[in-house]
Amino acid sequence: MIKLLVVDDEHPIRESIQMFMSEKGYTVYTASTIEESIARFKNLTPEVVILDIRLPDGSGLDALTRMHALYSFSKIIMITAFQDMETTIEAMKRGAYDYIHKPLDADELEKTVNDAIISFYEDTKITPKNMTRIAYNESEIVGKSRVMKEIYKMIGMLCQNRVTALITGETGTGKELVARRIHLSSPDCKRPFVTFDCSAVVDTLLESELFGHKKGAFTGAVNSRPGRIELAGDGTLFIDEVGELPLNLQGKLLGFLERKEYMRVGGKSILKSRCRIIAATNRDLAKMVGAKTFRGDLYYRLKVVSITLPPLRQRLSDINNLVAHFIEKSARELGIKQMTLQDGCIERLKHHPWTGNVRELENIIVAASIRSRGNVILLDALEDLLSHHAVSIEGTNAPRSLSQVEKTHVFAILESVKWNKTHAAKILKISLPTLRKKIQTYHLTPSHE
Ligand SMILES: Nc1ncnc2c1ncn2[C@@H]1O[C@H](COP(=O)(O)OP(=O)(O)OP(=O)(O)O)[C@@H](O)[C@H]1O
Ligand SMILES: [Mg+2]
Repeated sequence: MIKLLVVDDEHPIRESIQMFMSEKGYTVYTASTIEESIARFKNLTPEVVILDIRLPDGSGLDALTRMHALYSFSKIIMITAFQDMETTIEAMKRGAYDYIHKPLDADELEKTVNDAIISFYEDTKITPKNMTRIAYNESEIVGKSRVMKEIYKMIGMLCQNRVTALITGETGTGKELVARRIHLSSPDCKRPFVTFDCSAVVDTLLESELFGHKKGAFTGAVNSRPGRIELAGDGTLFIDEVGELPLNLQGKLLGFLERKEYMRVGGKSILKSRCRIIAATNRDLAKMVGAKTFRGDLYYRLKVVSITLPPLRQRLSDINNLVAHFIEKSARELGIKQMTLQDGCIERLKHHPWTGNVRELENIIVAASIRSRGNVILLDALEDLLSHHAVSIEGTNAPRSLSQVEKTHVFAILESVKWNKTHAAKILKISLPTLRKKIQTYHLTPSHE
């Protein structure tokens, strides 16, 4: 839950902000004097404070300074009246996040608080990638095939409720895209969309990443920190690669799904959340349940509704539209030329195995567009990319970036152990999740497939 502390000596103002912002899903606390506000602030470390400039026991400016000394990440929004302009400027100089005018305007208030929260997340190193505010077309899903139409129906159904959903499908089939789309099409689209990638966090930190921790809960826990559940607030928590979650945490996640309650690591109080959960995996969870590496009860709890995304090779009729989409997208986003394709290219693309699915296609199109001299992607150039994709490193004598070298090396090791990832991870002295990430980032696929 995102915490808001409202400090104002006028009861009607406190009450109206409290009512309005609680309806928007925030947990709102109030105080009417500086001393009271400091005491509450210490206990709560709220993400956002709405602070009146004139208070009975002193100036809001002093409260601002004291609060920042206690917890500098809090975003403090001053409430100002016209005659307070000088003081307001001073507050901004002292690090206030923004100010709003009296009489208060509900829309202005909500917008300012939302912006402050985004800024809070950025400062506390939850990257903006994990926060939603993406433009609608960035989440455009391309495809007119019958299988994709079924997917659209599921999205249409899921965006009208907050049921837990499981999205499965091979790597690169668009699981995250679909999750974002469900969120963005729902009435809660303005609330956060927070990602928790179980494969990107070392096991020992998974629990605190998900549930948060109290100051001193473990070595290195210098400050209390909210977990992803808390950051998702009343929005959506996207749990990616859920199959990588260790068994002990599977149990804790199940507990949360059943009760909507959890505790921070090292914490004593029970916290509540009403965030919507969408999980994704490219692993066969049913099989994992059989092998007892994934809890059956959690599996059934997650797949209340499940969506299975088809691999690209099962919807080759969509390649044409996808290619057009990626040509347009890369021209817009990467500032590269808008290309056309030589005859025969689409046919050639339809004959590729696409083990990396849509992501692989996107990468091929971007690479082909960047390499082409003119405005046309030539069949030969495409052929070259497709046949060497897994090892697509420019000539060995050319200067190579560290990531290019890493890509070749990781690929070589994987090939040498016939893609036994556990074995390869040992040789490379990296964890299995890290290896998986690298395979994904570099779009490595076995050469014999
Ligand atoms: N139907 C689609 N239309 C347009 N773009 C797509 C589609 N499917 C996937 N993409 C694009 O392909 C890339 C990979 O998609 P995404 O990250 O959602 O895949 P994923 O299933 O989560 O993969 P992984 O299992 O590897 O995490 C993204 O850039 C996404 O925008
Ligand atoms: Mg993904």
